[in-house]
Amino acid sequence: MKTIGVLTSGGDAPGMNAAVRAVVRAGCENGFRVMGIRRGYNGLMQGDMFEMNLRSVSNIINRGGTILYSARSPEFKTEEGLQKALKVAKDVNMEGIVVIGGDGSFRGARDLSLRGVNCVGIPGTIDNDIACSDYTIGYDTAMNTVLEMVDRLRDTSESHDRCTVVEVMGRRAGYIALNAGIACGATSILIPEVEYDFQRDVIERMKRTQKTGKRHFIIIVAEGIGGVEEMAKRIEAETGVETRATVLGHVQRGGHPTVRDRVTA
Ligand code: ADP
Ligand code: F6P
Repeated sequence: MKTIGVLTSGGDAPGMNAAVRAVVRAGCENGFRVMGIRRGYNGLMQGDMFEMNLRSVSNIINRGGTILYSARSPEFKTEEGLQKALKVAKDVNMEGIVVIGGDGSFRGARDLSLRGVNCVGIPGTIDNDIACSDYTIGYDTAMNTVLEMVDRLRDTSESHDRCTVVEVMGRRAGYIALNAGIACGATSILIPEVEYDFQRDVIERMKRTQKTGKRHFIIIVAEGIGGVEEMAKRIEAETGVETRATVLGHVQRGGHPTVRDRVTA
């Protein structure tokens, strides 16, 4: 019987559990021994793993987070760390590893495969930032969470005639900001991929729409740009509109995965 491993690595993402379930169920049905590796590459280096079966993945398709836990593992990036991981894989006759994670995790998978351990990468990150992949598991859920949160902010923003500047996650990528921003009808969306002029694209645009009677505003800013507190102060000073800044943070990583994330997984 061939042995394969499965791990989740980097920032967790809703739908990772559904992907683990798919790997385990497909593996078992096809006669593989499937080892669940805990806490990403840390678990691989430490040999922290357990055999999984069809029932190990019951009742997880609907759950956010990852039952295998996740980690960022600086040690694995070193030659010694990589050697430790390769030794463990060899000792348990692991012929392949399914890595569920983001671009950093994929770089790790590349290093393992270059040293003879076959790897399959499943894109799993809310950031949607894996090259040559149209979609990463977790992105849809995160965008819908942002949408729900911004709808709530809109209620209070409208009640007080305020401007709300919202920072959303995405590391260096602006996908969450762009699409959630369009979906929530933001006045301006600032993303790292596109050059912007704050005066023209935020202040002047707000002033223009103020003249049409608009009294409350939502500005969405990608994490890769940041600086929302300073932006709020500048907006208030230049437009006279009372302004608050909100950093949504890690709520964006939690919650039940959407249909799209489960089906993709
Ligand atoms: P994500 O996979 O979500 O992008 P990280 O960038 O934190 O998250 O990467 C997860 C893990 O993958 C890291 O902790 C590290 O162990 C491994 N990794 C990241 N970058 C590299 C790299 N350049 N080479 C080898 N391994 C890497
Ligand atoms: O990659 C997912 C992500 O949530 C990014 O959007 C964000 O930049 C980063 O992880 C946050 O990392 P941490 O959970 O280590 O604070």
